[in-house]
Amino acid sequence: MASTFEQAFADELAQVRAAGLWRELRRIEGPVDTWVNVDGIRALVLCSNNYLGLANHPALAAAAARAAVAYGGGAGASRLISGSLAIHRDLEARLARFKHAEAALLFPSGYHANVGAITTLVGRGDAVFSDQLNHASIIDGCRLSGAAVHVYAHADPAALDALLARAPARRRLVVTDSVFSMDGDHAPLAAICRIAAARGAMVMVDEAHATGVDGPSGAGLVEALGLGGAVTVQMGTLGKALGAAGAFVAGSRNLVDLLVNRARSFIYTTALPPPVAAAVDAALDIVAREPERRARLAQVATTLRARLSALGFTIPSGAGPIIPVMAGTSERALAWSRRLLERGVFVQAIRPPTVPEGTARLRVTVMATHSDADLAHAAAAFAALRDRA
Ligand SMILES: Cc1ncc(COP(=O)(O)O)c(C=O)c1O
Repeated sequence: MASTFEQAFADELAQVRAAGLWRELRRIEGPVDTWVNVDGIRALVLCSNNYLGLANHPALAAAAARAAVAYGGGAGASRLISGSLAIHRDLEARLARFKHAEAALLFPSGYHANVGAITTLVGRGDAVFSDQLNHASIIDGCRLSGAAVHVYAHADPAALDALLARAPARRRLVVTDSVFSMDGDHAPLAAICRIAAARGAMVMVDEAHATGVDGPSGAGLVEALGLGGAVTVQMGTLGKALGAAGAFVAGSRNLVDLLVNRARSFIYTTALPPPVAAAVDAALDIVAREPERRARLAQVATTLRARLSALGFTIPSGAGPIIPVMAGTSERALAWSRRLLERGVFVQAIRPPTVPEGTARLRVTVMATHSDADLAHAAAAFAALRDRA
């Protein structure tokens, strides 16, 4: 029997390989930093979400180490059983203030937060309206909710409005990334909020790639645009710019109480490890104290985007630390990624189903801690690629 299953696994894997969609885990030695050893090659990292360079910051490491000594390695249970620690409650209060919201709730990951929030807010008889390029965790939350799912054309408020006009339901939720993870562009949040208010729908915004990056205090795009009052659910992650792990949902006290009572991905999972919560707290100190990191990140992003465009690569218009370098086919994206690694630049090929068919790309991301010399190194490696493209 086992051999039959093994054969089925092998057949499926052969199909994945043949389609140019094989994924593999690379071995990275040492801490996450601007340079790492990837499969034995020393390379500049251009594929991390560690936008502010905090993942390996001594203050985060020290805070995590202190919390590990004080609390141990793990929370021991789900929050509703015995794992709701003071360190969680204090961090939630701080995250609520950070997001200018009444309350916040921690989740073990952004995936948990999106699935938990969406399935809590809508169910059978309801409708959810989701941008075509939303993150997989939003898509999965929509599917799992049992609500009718309406996908609108990417970043197109008119398309959203048309769908809302003809899809009545008991409860309606519009959900969007604020910064799209594979394209780096921004959702038209002001228009979305206006339309949703006019049509009586709730708005949920996933700020995974904006938290710590956008806004006057780094709280995200909702803060930058002054839309806090128009957004029912603000989700943010703690494993990207904030350098640790986990996520949170911020909103009203009632929203958070509802999540505590209903969100299965909160109720039935072990709480965030205390050292992680402590690292997040230290990261929030740095975000508040060092706005120059956000300014440097913006400068690095503008510089590299301009250099890669000047080399003739196809880069959709935009700004910010996510720079998609379009390759088209999966094979080409993979070949580029391989050749860049040979030249000491680590950047991943992003292929379907993560991005739509025919839009395989390199997802280049920059960090505030990249030096000017790092950018020159990256540009030289890309120039060599273009010469052979
Ligand atoms: C837009 C978006 N939402 C949610 C997530 C999930 O967050 P996490 O990695 O914390 O599960 C990610 C990335 O992983 C993301 O890019």
